[in-house]
Amino acid sequence: MDYKQVVADALAPALTGTLSAEDIYAKIERPKDVNKGDYAFPAFTLAKTFKKAPQQIATDLVKQIDTSQFDKVEVVGPYLNFFLDKAAFSAQILGQVLTEGADYGQNQSGKNGNVPIDMSSPNIAKPISMGHLRSTVIGNSIAEILKKNGYHPIKDNHLGDWGTQFGKLITAYLKWGNEDDVKKDPITNLVKYYVKFHKEDVAHPELDDEAREWFKKLEDGDKQAQQLWSWFREESLKAFKAIYDKLGVQFDTYNGEAFYNDKMQAVVDELKAKGLLQESQGAQVVNLEKYDLNPALILKSDGASLYITRDIATAMYREKTYHPAMNLYVVGSEQIYYFKQLKAVLTEMGLPSAKNLHHIPFGLITVNGKKLSTRSGRIILLDAVLDDAIEMAQKQIAEKNPDLPNKAEVAQQVGVGAIIFGDLKNERMNSIDFNLAEQLKFEGETGPYVQYAHARAESILRKASGVDVPTSGAKISDPEAWETLKALADFPDVVVEALKEFEPSDVAKYAIRLAKSFNKYYAHSKILAEDAEKTARLALVKSVSTVLKEALRLLGVQAPDEM
Ligand code: ARG
Repeated sequence: MDYKQVVADALAPALTGTLSAEDIYAKIERPKDVNKGDYAFPAFTLAKTFKKAPQQIATDLVKQIDTSQFDKVEVVGPYLNFFLDKAAFSAQILGQVLTEGADYGQNQSGKNGNVPIDMSSPNIAKPISMGHLRSTVIGNSIAEILKKNGYHPIKDNHLGDWGTQFGKLITAYLKWGNEDDVKKDPITNLVKYYVKFHKEDVAHPELDDEAREWFKKLEDGDKQAQQLWSWFREESLKAFKAIYDKLGVQFDTYNGEAFYNDKMQAVVDELKAKGLLQESQGAQVVNLEKYDLNPALILKSDGASLYITRDIATAMYREKTYHPAMNLYVVGSEQIYYFKQLKAVLTEMGLPSAKNLHHIPFGLITVNGKKLSTRSGRIILLDAVLDDAIEMAQKQIAEKNPDLPNKAEVAQQVGVGAIIFGDLKNERMNSIDFNLAEQLKFEGETGPYVQYAHARAESILRKASGVDVPTSGAKISDPEAWETLKALADFPDVVVEALKEFEPSDVAKYAIRLAKSFNKYYAHSKILAEDAEKTARLALVKSVSTVLKEALRLLGVQAPDEM
């Protein structure tokens, strides 16, 4: 129920002829200070129209309003402050949450439109970085938020699995590689060969020629080259998938760059046919002057295609396959300029989905204030970070709840959840300084804090087992419950807002707010006391549990019932 509308409707009869229903609605504010009511109408904005003192307008208005449906309506200075009817409000909102369950907050505005999300997209034979982690968890959450808004997301892992570096890797492997080592620890060893290649080629430039030859062979479909490439790819993918499993993230497609190899000529043909290709120093480019952007390099002078050529092929493929309602790319902010160029080229080509192409960038992760990069050796292997988090969670749980039967499972959910939540609670463009100990705290704005609030709610419900929790008529008059009730009512709006800006942090912040208000309520009120409102309070507890779990689910974080 839209309570702002209730207030607007109450004001309408007093303002007919003065303001339209929409204008009334638009003027209504939500005061930050709880003492100023749940909604406020700024009467002073009508001073000119009525040619009266603002305070007088407020006083006159309140006389014409049916105030019986509110706890009270107060005039404070030039404002009309509305206090909602708590008993009616609680019955309505708790009824709605408990009837709809996990569907609470679902809307159908997406009309089931397809939305490909380009996410994670690490490079084969390289470690998956913390940047790829951000892309994975942000993308995964946006996919869930899309579903909650009625869209059909398609999570696509655009693997970096093609390019001249594979010529180098094949050369290096054939010289210094070992099959068993690669099988045992693909990423570490493949990186080792690659690094060795770059060390050696300083003194032996002929290595570069060899690498070029191998890449040429790979492109021409040479059997040995192809076999090695697909083996490197498979082994790397196995290592990546182990991490995705730990994170609980699945993809719908793994259409990496190589998937588009046979779709490149069509890109060049189409650009030519549309008169968009120009020659520049032997290379083929698309001029983007009118977008105030540098030209996009489509083909090098030797005819080789580039990263953007593959992305154009990708966009054309997605257009044809999905007729996307939106086209999303969750890729770090270092590629902002690049995605402007991509969007500009696709716009020039007249690709329908170009208008709804959104690059969803995000900030850097630093560790103890330092930027991560493969070269400086400060690669944090994501896998190790996840394992550390799980171990830390295990220790905390062993202390807090030594009798918990499924400790290992819960430690996994808490450790991984802490990392995901620790990322997603930040507005995505902000940089994050990664600090495991902070993110794993059970107090403060953390994943475990929210999970714990959910587990606490579940534990109350277990204690009350046997009591029927009503799905209607749960009236709570206790003012201590008010913040929690209002937070519950806000969830559907949060679902909509989070999608508008592609901002999972809206959901994370909301989860913190709901958990905090619930913990405060819990500290003040005896939920299981035997009085007339007991079952209504249990309805509140159950609603909180349902919505916390659902909010965490939208973030890709699990909610154990006990921890
Ligand atoms: N593999 C790239 C990287 O690690 C990211 C690819 C992003 N997706 C895309 N369609 N360009 O930087």
